[in-house]
Amino acid sequence: MINKEQMDKLFNEASQIAHKAYAPYSNFRVGAALLNEDNSIITGVNVENRSFGLTVCAERNAIFSAVTKGNSRFKAIAICTPDSAEPVGPCGACRQVMGEFMPAEAQVIFGANCSKQVNTTMGELLPFDSLHELRK
Ligand code: THU
Repeated sequence: MINKEQMDKLFNEASQIAHKAYAPYSNFRVGAALLNEDNSIITGVNVENRSFGLTVCAERNAIFSAVTKGNSRFKAIAICTPDSAEPVGPCGACRQVMGEFMPAEAQVIFGANCSKQVNTTMGELLPFDSLHELRK
């Protein structure tokens, strides 16, 4: 279980990196911050493309970057969407990719800012995940 101070720090990293998002088509910036098992943090932003379907979300960019750096199991992720009034949860594709590397008890926090957040778990976002049966 991650304490409040760690979660606030993680959300703060997501919030800061969100400003680096490349989102000229939607103007909807997203920042994600992953907490590795060793407590280091890796971030990502959404990167859009004029061929819209090629856009990659912040969560997946953070995860792919983390895996590239040798991290493949995460304790938590914070997602910040500064351009929304309400918290925006990860899309279905990102939930599937997150589920590959995050156990059911991993914490997921998302929000537009520090005062309006949803604090949940991987298992709640992707219930009945088959990963553990499939991975031998
Ligand atoms: N987006 C993310 O980066 N993460 C999410 O969880 C939701 C959506 C991005 C994709 C696109 O660049 C923009 O937000 C609007 O959908």
